[in-house]
Order: sequence, then structure tokens, then C-alpha cells
Amino acid sequence: MSLSENVSPAELLASLPPEQLAAFLKRTSDRELEAIEHDWGWWGRPNQQAPKGDWRTWLLLAGRGFGKTRSGAECIRDQVIHHRRRRIALVAPTAADARDVMVEGESGLLAIGPPQQRPQYEPTKRRLTWPNGAIATTYSADEPERLRGPQHDAAWCDEIASWRYPEAWDMLMFGLRLGPDPRVVVTTTPKPIKIIRELIADPTTVITRGSTYDNRANLAPAFLQQIVRKYEGTRLGRQELNAEILDDVPGALWSRALIEETRWPVHRNIPDLVRIVVAIDPAVSTGEDADETGIIVAGKDKDSRGYVLADLSGHHTPIEWARIAVAAYKSHGADRIVAEVNNGGEMVEATLRVVDDNVAYTAVHATRGKVVRAEPVAALYEQGRIRHIGITHYTASAYPEVERWLRTGNYEFLQINYSLAEREAEERVLPLARELSIAVIANRPFAEGALFRRAKGKALPPWAADLGIASWAQYFLKWIVGHPAVTCTIPGTAKPEHMRDNIAAGMGTLPDDATRKKMLQYFESL
Ligand SMILES: Nc1ncnc2c1ncn2[C@@H]1O[C@H](COP(=O)(O)OP(=O)(O)OP(=O)(O)O)[C@@H](O)[C@H]1O
Ligand SMILES: [Mg+2]
Repeated sequence: MSLSENVSPAELLASLPPEQLAAFLKRTSDRELEAIEHDWGWWGRPNQQAPKGDWRTWLLLAGRGFGKTRSGAECIRDQVIHHRRRRIALVAPTAADARDVMVEGESGLLAIGPPQQRPQYEPTKRRLTWPNGAIATTYSADEPERLRGPQHDAAWCDEIASWRYPEAWDMLMFGLRLGPDPRVVVTTTPKPIKIIRELIADPTTVITRGSTYDNRANLAPAFLQQIVRKYEGTRLGRQELNAEILDDVPGALWSRALIEETRWPVHRNIPDLVRIVVAIDPAVSTGEDADETGIIVAGKDKDSRGYVLADLSGHHTPIEWARIAVAAYKSHGADRIVAEVNNGGEMVEATLRVVDDNVAYTAVHATRGKVVRAEPVAALYEQGRIRHIGITHYTASAYPEVERWLRTGNYEFLQINYSLAEREAEERVLPLARELSIAVIANRPFAEGALFRRAKGKALPPWAADLGIASWAQYFLKWIVGHPAVTCTIPGTAKPEHMRDNIAAGMGTLPDDATRKKMLQYFESL
């Protein structure tokens, strides 16, 4: 047996032949044995140990019951006792999880380490205090706002894939700035969601993986049996037991990533909706194996962007789905209930009318296959026409704020002022947009006409023709779009001939870096 097989030194020792074990015990003093009792270096398996060397985030992705919580707790204990961390954040999906699992749980912070080194817990203050003065505070990912402000030099996030508001992570990161080397350990069973993908992609993250089976020796047989029976051999089992990040079903119209990307951030208000409908697709039969009855509340705003407001689908009896749909119709102030009636015919309307005679109702008949009908909707998602939001601004004073919003990861595009006369965006905002793959629309491309006033009566440089530039407008626009972060620019005009002139800037070659410098110098020499 070797350590690479994910066996702890303690397990290795236990597997020695009796005479070797006896020899080991003989040459080890009682004090040494006592020290071993609480030495995680002995008990932890290699994939439960924090990585050596420099890391900012240690991401432990492992199956249920692997010993994730224990590993996180031991990592924090080590940071407190051996690395002088003094202000620690403990973040769990809920406040109860923080208390019951991270602090008081069987593998929590109060249960590990030599008794004289263990912290005191003050539940009302959500605080743990170690004998050496280090303090940890518990937080719930349900309340991201509480993480705004406090600063920490270490943090432990348990089950981050189950956090309701992944924004809590961003808040935590803003405050993780005490000391020269702040560190965060994340212990979780993964899900194919944005925060997990981002953590994995981050070059400062060190990832360790493990499976439920690694810890089978320490798990109650009933637990192991129950969880293995539930998941073994299933697709979900690859996630829950082996911590694999499940890719999408081949050929699916909606990928998980697509849905995650369109999530509307919780702190934003939904725009005014011009129309809201409750849509029902009733299942033909009821019972465990029947399809779900789909019930969706969806709305659209004045620009025809769509918002899915609620998904109330489930295994419902007819009268149940009718009640749910009518309740949703009322609580969302919907304009209409729309139902697909391929299967139920008149019954669908009759059922609804039993619950409420007055709802506005339309039946739709699906005449084509589901995939054919779903494709255009999936295409709307892909084109970013469902629930995608962006930011627009036009003054440099707002850039720090714009940067902060861009970093939340919730934006598809940025509209910002950028031109030969207003170049501040190229310092930080444009490079950031490029790094985050956020599209950029440049507004005020002529700086409200300032560029034309400066160039008035002046000749274009002779080399402009090589770039296919025939007018000052084209010179200004090509310079903007030549920036690698800029997707497009939006010159405004009321005159068709100006429009034609501007469009021509989109033809032919775009200036490279060196040429853009030359263009800037020439313009500034005017
Ligand atoms: N290396 C180890 N040696 C001995 N016991 C261990 C070891 N690792 C974990 N355990 C024990 O195994 C049990 C499960 O560990 P833990 O609760 O940390 O797992 P988990 O991965 O967080 O589980 P869950 O998926 O339920 O959150 C606990 O009793 C814990 O103390
Ligand atoms: Mg756990």
C-alpha cells in the first residue's frame, strides 16, 4: 500500500503485519502516541490534506461523506494554530448549517484537535474564540450582505455548490484582505454551476478530488449503504459519489451553462413587464412514473426580453395543477393562462373553471414535435434575448463602479464612452472586459462632435487611404473598433449620407496597435 492510494499514515500503520505494528508501538513513547491522537497528518488521507506551497483557494471537490467537512475544519485548525490566522470567516449554505455542521458537527471545529487547543463557542455572537486569540465568525450564504464589510485573513466555505446566493462568494472575496497571505478553503460536492466552473478555472485555485468510497472505513455502514444504493450506477451518482462535474446530455437544447448564464442577479429589480402568462402543459397520467405537469410563469418586457418568473411544475393531480396555476395567475397579476391541450382537450379548461370561472384562458394545440417547437426558444437564449442584462455608462468618473459591477460576473455586455477624445476606458475597463469576455459597445464615438471640430478643415494623413479610410468619421470609428476589446461602436446621426459614411468604416482592414498609435499621434498633432 502506498500513500498515493489515498490511505492515511494511520491506516497504513493499521495494515502492517502484527509484529511490525508491535515494533512500532514499542519504539514510540506514550507522549508521542498522545500527540498522534490529534495529528491530522496521521489521520487525514493524502487527498484530505491542504496542498503545500502557495495557494489562495483550496477547492476540495468530493463525494458525499468523503470527509470534506472534517478536511475543512482541520485546515482551519492548522491555519489558526500554525499559521497565525486571526480573523476567520466560516460560510455555510444556511446559519443552521454553519452552527450544526461547521462548528458543532461531528467533524466540526469543536470536535477536533487537542481539547486544550479547542475554541470557545458563543452562538449568539456567531463566534468561536481560540485560546491563542484567533476568532472565527459564522456566516450564512443566505445573507450575503453580512459579509459586506468584515475583513478576514482566512475563510472556509462548506458546500458552496448549494449556496442560494453565490454573490456571497464575491462579498467574502472583497473582505479577504487581512495579512500578507489570505487563504480560503472550499469543501463541496460539486454541481455544474457557474461558481464551481469559475473556481476551477481560476489559476490561483488548487483543486483536490475525492470520492465517497475513499472514506468508507469511517462511514456508518447504514449511511454508506443508503447513499450508495440511492446513487450507484446513476448519472447523478457520478456527481454525488465521485464528485464528477456532470456535462450536459448530448444533443440537449439547453445546456446547464446556458441556463446558469441567464440567471438574473437577486439584487436587481426585474423591469416592468408588459405581459405575464401562466403556461401549463398537463401530464396525461398521474403517479410516480408519469411526466410532470409543467407550470411556468413567464413575462416579457417592452423590448421583448423574456423572464421566467416561477417554475411550479411537478407531479400534480388535475385539480392540484389547476389550483396552483390559478394561484400563480393571481399572485403574479398574470394576463392569461395558456395551456397545451393535445392530451386533455376540453378537460383542461373545465378543470381550470372548477377552480376559478373568471381566469382569462387560451388553449394552444401543438402541431409540431417538441424539439421543433423548443428550438426557436433555445435560440432566443443563445442569442441572449432571454434575461440577459448589461451596463451602460458614459463618464470616466463612474469607471470604478463599472469595474465593480463587471467583476460580479453577471454581465453580458458593457456600453461605455470611448473615442480619440475620451480614452480613459482603455486604462482598466476595456482590458477587464476583455479578460472577462464581456462584449463592449463604444458610445460617444465622436465625443459629441468634439472630434470633428478639431479636424475641421484639416487633411487626412496620406497613409489613411491604405486603411481604406476616406473621411474623418471613418478615421475616428476605425480607431475605436480597432481596439481588441471593442465589439462595435454606435455613431448616431440623422443624415443618410453620414450613415453611409459611418458604415464604410466597418469595411476593409482595421488598424492594429501600432497603427492606432500612429492615428492617435496624428490626430493630436492637428
Ligand atoms: N481521515 C479520516 N479518518 C477518520 N475519520 C474520518 C476521516 N475523514 C473523515 N472522517 C469522518 O467521516 C465522517 C464523515 O466526514 P464529514 O462529515 O467530514 O464528511 P462530508 O464529506 O463533509 O460529508 P457530507 O457529504 O455528509 O457533508 C465523519 O465522522 C468524520 O469525522
Ligand atoms: Mg459535510
